[in-house]
Amino acid sequence: MSAIIIDGKETAKKLRISIKKQVEELKAEGIVPALAVIIVGNNPASRVYVSNKEKDCKKCGIESLEFALPEETTTEELLALVGELNTRSDVDGILVQLPLPRGIDERRVIEAITPAKDVDAFHPENVGRIMIGTPSFLPCTPAGVMALLDEYKIPIEGKECVVIGRSNIVGKPMAMLLLHRSGTVTICHSRTRDLADITRRADILVSAVGREGMVTADMVKPGAVVIDVAINTAADGSLVGDCTPDVAEVAGYITPVPGGVGPMTRVMLLENTLTSARRRKNG
Ligand code: GUN
Repeated sequence: MSAIIIDGKETAKKLRISIKKQVEELKAEGIVPALAVIIVGNNPASRVYVSNKEKDCKKCGIESLEFALPEETTTEELLALVGELNTRSDVDGILVQLPLPRGIDERRVIEAITPAKDVDAFHPENVGRIMIGTPSFLPCTPAGVMALLDEYKIPIEGKECVVIGRSNIVGKPMAMLLLHRSGTVTICHSRTRDLADITRRADILVSAVGREGMVTADMVKPGAVVIDVAINTAADGSLVGDCTPDVAEVAGYITPVPGGVGPMTRVMLLENTLTSARRRKNG
């Protein structure tokens, strides 16, 4: 049997239509939602991500302001720009594209963004809020995964959820969101022993490693829901996730790469920007 494909592209499209409508309503009340995106240096992947974010904003009527800074930018210069955007009343969200060039203090920059405009939810205050279950903004990729699980009516309560990867951006917040929905959560990582024994327990398996071939069919319980967060470039230049193709023959549900989690991450950034703009309206 072959897994049901979880269509992130289609789900994201539906959400964008709803966001666009809400943006129009806000605009009618005099509020134009706006996202400031800062990119430093010439990382080609970052350039693609940033241009996609701008296109997404445009599709939904959200204003996007791009600040492209040279590779030699100093931490102090970047902090000055963040400080200015923090105070601008016409800016609802601030996103500093990561990774930053070597030599820039990434932590200091993230912590300089005012939590009220931190649409990535990377600031320690927002991370802490996620941890205690009172989020201000949801982290985009984990929130996108949760929205997909809900769209496909996949129950989480009481289920064995295994997350492979412990990054601050995906693995850790993903585990928290699943936990808050009463999943029984295990986080695995590069030092985990007997990984396959743990992943085979999973009713919901989320892989966020970034290594082609990381998850093979024998690591998956038949019928499990497999969420492949990774985007890797294969030897032939195509985009692939962490899962080998035969995982789809064992899983009950699977997200494709591309077209699974990626479009959902992007739409959640729009959702967070809209949330922030609505708070501006409500004062
Ligand atoms: N680089 C890769 N993913 C992300 C993300 O979600 N936000 C930011 N700011 N940078 C990234």
